[in-house]
Amino acid sequence: MKTVLITGANKGIGFETAKQMAQLGYFVYIGSRVKTRGLDAVKKLNEQGLSNVELIEIDVTNFDSIKRARHELENRIEALDVLINNAGISGGPSQNISTVNIENLREVFETNFFGAVQTTQQFIDLLNKSNEPRIVNVSSGLGSLTLHNSTQNPNYKIYDAYSCSKTALNAFTVMLANEFRGTNFKINSVSPGYTATDLNQYKGTQTVEQGAKPIIKYATLGNDGATGKFFYEEEEIQW
Ligand SMILES: NC(=O)c1ccc[n+]([C@@H]2O[C@H](COP(=O)([O-])OP(=O)(O)OC[C@H]3O[C@@H](n4cnc5c(N)ncnc54)[C@H](OP(=O)(O)O)[C@@H]3O)[C@@H](O)[C@H]2O)c1
Repeated sequence: MKTVLITGANKGIGFETAKQMAQLGYFVYIGSRVKTRGLDAVKKLNEQGLSNVELIEIDVTNFDSIKRARHELENRIEALDVLINNAGISGGPSQNISTVNIENLREVFETNFFGAVQTTQQFIDLLNKSNEPRIVNVSSGLGSLTLHNSTQNPNYKIYDAYSCSKTALNAFTVMLANEFRGTNFKINSVSPGYTATDLNQYKGTQTVEQGAKPIIKYATLGNDGATGKFFYEEEEIQW
């Protein structure tokens, strides 16, 4: 049975992704920074008949927590097939780059960028043991510099800390994919699209089922699939 670790899988898009990956037959490790929230998520999935799910406690901003999660997973499995760096925070209601509080900016980067980088670094050896390793960095259309310069969408003017962190995450995707080019790794940035979750006080226009769809698609890519690309919903978009 293939294995997948999803960070921030106790709710929102991560939870829905966990559910659908479990339905596809993967063994799903539900990453949750708070044990009780993760256990609730596992229980909900068990109640839906999905027994191929387990909790892994992991706070992506805490290096010791990530290391503990890696040791725990190493004791349970030989190889990790898929890592989905999904954990993310919005950084609050409004952040213009000229006025954003620097601590706020750092906090958003801690989770959305450094969190994904240090999690990947800790799990890369376990992924390397898979025949078909896949990494999905859950990004956002707000990470696209091209869209920032071309769209009139008002969201592109008020989430600057978040946007910068997702642009940085996209840079990580490109560097990592280039480092592993010529291997079986497929590493992509995927935006779920504007999805109703706690992150946006449920203002998003899509359901979590719609948001999870492209993440699943790139988490389960075949060996002829893309690597080092950025997909918005299911279409490739400009960085
Ligand atoms: N919703 C959208 O419209 C949208 C659009 C584009 C991209 N995205 C991206 O999609 C991903 C999922 O977001 P969502 O909309 O599902 O938001 P959400 O419902 O707020 O879920 C965020 C998840 O991340 C977890 N998390 C936050 N900080 C963490 C940390 N330090 N360590 C581990 N887990 C942490 C949260 O855990 P707690 O429950 O403990 O807080 C929660 O499980 C994010 O990367 C987000 O940027 C969302």
